[in-house]
Amino acid sequence: MRMVDLIEKKRDGNALSKEELDFIIDGYTDGSIPDYQMSALLMAIFYQDMTDEEISHLTLAMANSGDIIDLSSIEGVKVDKHSTGGVGDTTTLVLAPLVASVDVPVAKMSGRGLGFTGGTLDKFESIPGFKIELSDQEFVDIVNKSKVAVIGQSGNLAPADKKLYALRDVTATVDSIPLIASSIMSKKIAAGADAIVLDVTTGEGAFMKNIDDAKRLAKTMVRIGKLAGRQTMAVISDMSEPLGQAIGNSLEIVEAIDTLKGEGPADLTEMCYVLGSQMVVLAGKAATLDEARAMLEEALHSGKALEKFREMVKDQGGDATVIDQTDKILTAKYEIELPAKTSGYVTDLVANEIGIAAMLLGAGRKTKEEDIDHAVGIKLHKKVGDKVAEGESLLTIYANSNEIDEVEKLLYENISIGEEPKEPILIHDIITE
Ligand code: URA
Ligand code: CA
Repeated sequence: MRMVDLIEKKRDGNALSKEELDFIIDGYTDGSIPDYQMSALLMAIFYQDMTDEEISHLTLAMANSGDIIDLSSIEGVKVDKHSTGGVGDTTTLVLAPLVASVDVPVAKMSGRGLGFTGGTLDKFESIPGFKIELSDQEFVDIVNKSKVAVIGQSGNLAPADKKLYALRDVTATVDSIPLIASSIMSKKIAAGADAIVLDVTTGEGAFMKNIDDAKRLAKTMVRIGKLAGRQTMAVISDMSEPLGQAIGNSLEIVEAIDTLKGEGPADLTEMCYVLGSQMVVLAGKAATLDEARAMLEEALHSGKALEKFREMVKDQGGDATVIDQTDKILTAKYEIELPAKTSGYVTDLVANEIGIAAMLLGAGRKTKEEDIDHAVGIKLHKKVGDKVAEGESLLTIYANSNEIDEVEKLLYENISIGEEPKEPILIHDIITE
């Protein structure tokens, strides 16, 4: 087989076979296919698209390029949840202990944040002592004992994706549905879950800017998951404004604690119930979504979910006293309010730009090598649809420097106040096949 012939085949709009896709992924992973040929193929895929069959062969080839994690020594149906990216997305911090508290095992592999999207690992590391590097055995033992643990992605999980993603980033081929779907699903399949709940975000803060594209991506991933023998479903959620009120690592830990106490923001709480109910049903712990939701509501209101969070923090070496004394991690030097310049209703909070503002404060990384400041970030006091009076605080900026003119300017440019109230939408659709 010659790579040049395969590039030509795709360029002309023909489908590649399983053998051809295996050849491509094996060759690219071991270096025998150079970046320039792979770049040409990526651009051909970008323009010519792929059939479902091609996407699933590509995904499995990528998943098989490295380790496939074996979670079979963990009892029960392991359900993973994955979001395609967002701003202030605190759901994993709440969902992991919440669904574990109703006996659904959560063996979660998470990543770090980059650019305007935050990473679950960075958030957990805001808790002093919290260790995300566990051996495979420790990980399995903790999940069997307490039903929940979170670790960093192993070094050799879908290495083909790592290499391809870096190449896509510099060849303008990130925004391709078959390439995004295979990238995400190869990692999920390699991470070993039996069932997968996908949160496909849409809006300014997401990869998919419109609902039709988000639906196509969701349907594609659900089909690939099923073809790979994993029960898979997707929720299409809105990410035009940040989720909840907190954006920033320590701030989101505190927001998760509040939510686990039943005192969290309405949108974040609802999102956790919707995603959590799907996880509980897929795990076989409830027959219907209503029954699952009732279990989760009970766990949250009885304090069982918060106790599970405490147990999880202790299991991973973290200081659980922060749960009762959240001031211990809210250590930013300055807390600066941003007053509204006019009265009216909030009509827009542009998620990605607000994520960038948090990043500029130090809550996120511009490059992979940068350090982050766990204490800084933004807490929104007004969300889309809320009424606001001139001079009232829109949000609090948590900063470790008081030179924040650029951040304030960026925030003002991306918060709109209008005369008519606007109803925010949280869930656009649920895709099960
Ligand atoms: N997340 C991924 O892991 N891969 C993509 O291509 C896009 C989002
Ligand atoms: Ca949040």
